[in-house]
Amino acid sequence: MPKEALPPMPVRKPYPLSKEQIRLYRENGFVALPDVLEREEVRALRRILTGAVRDRKRKHADGLIQTNPRYEKVFAQMVNLWEDYEEFRPFILNSRLADIARRLVGCRSIRLWHDHALIKPPFDGAPTPWHQDFPYWPMKEPGALSCWLALDDVDESNGCMSFVPGTHRLGALAPVSLTHPSSLFKVAGLDRREHRPTIVRLKAGSCTFHDGNTFHHAGPNRSAKPRRALAIIYMPAGVTYDGKPHCVTDGCGLRVGGRFSGKRFPVLARS
Ligand code: SIN
Ligand code: NI
Repeated sequence: MPKEALPPMPVRKPYPLSKEQIRLYRENGFVALPDVLEREEVRALRRILTGAVRDRKRKHADGLIQTNPRYEKVFAQMVNLWEDYEEFRPFILNSRLADIARRLVGCRSIRLWHDHALIKPPFDGAPTPWHQDFPYWPMKEPGALSCWLALDDVDESNGCMSFVPGTHRLGALAPVSLTHPSSLFKVAGLDRREHRPTIVRLKAGSCTFHDGNTFHHAGPNRSAKPRRALAIIYMPAGVTYDGKPHCVTDGCGLRVGGRFSGKRFPVLARS
């Protein structure tokens, strides 16, 4: 089969991010943005993702993954696909998406933190528990954020995301285990009934951006098809490494207390 040409994303016009969308992001800790990818881009990304994930699974097929085929273990092997698969780079290193992140945060330059394929298999009864992302990340200053790109239409039937508005202002709490979750609401001392989540249904090619401290969750995939999403995670340039163990930074030579830098964390957009 002839290879499809890579989509010319980096040369497209900036996404028309409105002041209202920036305000909503800062107030709620998340925002949904329609149609950040075009239809052909979604198709190309699905194809690339399927091939890369199949390849990673083959290379990392060890007992650990087979005995516990969910969350941290499977998700961990799907991190930083851009480093191994060149076809991903126009998407992950994409300045158009990175510049949305930069404008939402309101910083001068933004770096890639990592990418992460998030695929829920068909009839997967497991929800992604309520959690914050930031407590797992080895960085001192807040501000890092995820772009969660839907590669399939998502709603409550196949594991769309939900967010609790305003929870980013609580800061980083103790991390909850994704495999043996304790209640994040309990950890935060919050009454769940008073903090209603916003369910975010998305069309393929649309995305959400959420702050690393915003409470979020995804339901199970009860449908007969996989739910495919790609997270591209950014951090304001200038945040410092705190040395916490993480598969993206372990052994990569960053100095505790120093700024993130180097090829693995490229600056993707600046004002
Ligand atoms: C998911 O896609 O199931 C969870 C994504 C996230 O935690 O950011
Ligand atoms: Ni998360």
